[in-house]
Amino acid sequence: MSSMENLQDAFAGESQANRKYLAFAKIAEQDGMAQVAKLFRAAAEAETIHAHAHLRAMGGIKSTAENLEAAIEGEGFEFKDMYPKMLTQAQEEGVKPAEISFKNALAVEEIHHGMYSKALEAVKAGNDLPETSLYVCPVCGNTVEGSAPDKCPICNVAGDKFAPVA
Ligand SMILES: [Fe+2]
Ligand SMILES: [Fe+2]
Repeated sequence: MSSMENLQDAFAGESQANRKYLAFAKIAEQDGMAQVAKLFRAAAEAETIHAHAHLRAMGGIKSTAENLEAAIEGEGFEFKDMYPKMLTQAQEEGVKPAEISFKNALAVEEIHHGMYSKALEAVKAGNDLPETSLYVCPVCGNTVEGSAPDKCPICNVAGDKFAPVA
């Protein structure tokens, strides 16, 4: 494997470790192990630093316009190609948790694709997006502008569970 391929693999691995450790930290917190939770969060932060260093080393971080193009391409692939296939297979195999997870992600990636596309138009015109609040559904990841809905149109969770984005 080339060093570029190694960087890709290492980036994927470190990115996964970051999200796993944050999930593990929440469980450690629930288990009353605050210091173990802190260790998971510290390692998660370090893995993010490694992931970003690998991504930088492979030239994966560019201008905001180019980064938006990469984001649009990634979200487009996910909602048009990757998740539809995965969803169909999960349905055929009767793997319900996978079906729900893929269905939620598919719906939200389409929303991200639209939001990123609007952002790219603004950036190409030399502007930032208009100022607004953003909220994320803690169950399905639905991402909404302005204010949280009464209930999530994708997963039905109560709107007051939505988290504002800083
Ligand atoms: Fe997305
Ligand atoms: Fe949701």
